[in-house]
Amino acid sequence: MSEARLGLPNLGFGVGLRTAHYPHILKHKPDVDWFEIISENYMDSGGRPRHVLEQIVEQYKVVMHGVSLSIGSTDPLNFEYLAKLKTLAEWTQAVWISDHVCWTGVNGLNGHDLLPLPYNEETLQHAVSRIKVVQDFLERPLVLENPSTYVTFTDSTMSEWDFVTRMAEESDCGLLLDVNNVYVSCFNHDLDPEDFIRSLPHERIVQFHLAGHTDCGTHIIDTHDNFVVDKVWDLYRLAHKLTGGVSTLLEWDAQIPDFDVVHGEVLKARDLVRDGSTVLPKTAGNVGDDVLADHGESFHEVSRSRAIPQPAVFVAAEVE
Ligand SMILES: [Fe+2]
Repeated sequence: MSEARLGLPNLGFGVGLRTAHYPHILKHKPDVDWFEIISENYMDSGGRPRHVLEQIVEQYKVVMHGVSLSIGSTDPLNFEYLAKLKTLAEWTQAVWISDHVCWTGVNGLNGHDLLPLPYNEETLQHAVSRIKVVQDFLERPLVLENPSTYVTFTDSTMSEWDFVTRMAEESDCGLLLDVNNVYVSCFNHDLDPEDFIRSLPHERIVQFHLAGHTDCGTHIIDTHDNFVVDKVWDLYRLAHKLTGGVSTLLEWDAQIPDFDVVHGEVLKARDLVRDGSTVLPKTAGNVGDDVLADHGESFHEVSRSRAIPQPAVFVAAEVE
């Protein structure tokens, strides 16, 4: 790789574009560094979403974030989907295209969930070969995000961070580090989130995600419906230090508050790293602060011997 971050710029502090905020954004034109759009929401649609996006891309830099690539699936790659992705990227002048290290379906069915992969040599080579094809087709680097997970596999032979590192280096792709997902997955599988972040190839991380979650006591669900908790801010500060700082985006997908509240949350990240502040952002309204402390010492102590979590420590998300 000739340039750090695959030659991709640091866009600053952005917000995930959500329908609920369309009127506010169009009326007030808030001073936001950039927006991340969910690719699938605009690939097939004309009408209002497309009309709004036209106005957004005239004024803001945009990054595309997909949820249907299914890079780990055994189904053939969907070139019709990829063609639509490429067309949308050209139209929006997307600075990059991202998706997830996951599979979303098989036999032509899309389960609309970001399902985890077994972390072993076979799935690694499968993913690497498909990423190369996708990047050749899109004529740009792909940026892939670590998912939040609730199960592990007996077939895993390596840690998630080793899998992700080798995947990125062997396919020459970029990484989207979702700091909250690291926290959620590590809590659910008794792993150390700092080890996770320290072990990644930092020069390949081109973007961070931040979000809130729901602490269910025995496990955490990645609900994107609240403020970022203090322990995730701690991890963000570590990730910022290790990478030197990359584009940062706030995701809020349920119980979405006013735009200014969402924007204000990502500006906490800006203030946190700009000042080198050691004081955590005020997280009024949080549920789940100090989750690590609440769960005692076992989180870190147990994790050191469990880089490859086994099903004995499975955590199943509640289904409502
Ligand atoms: Fe994310």
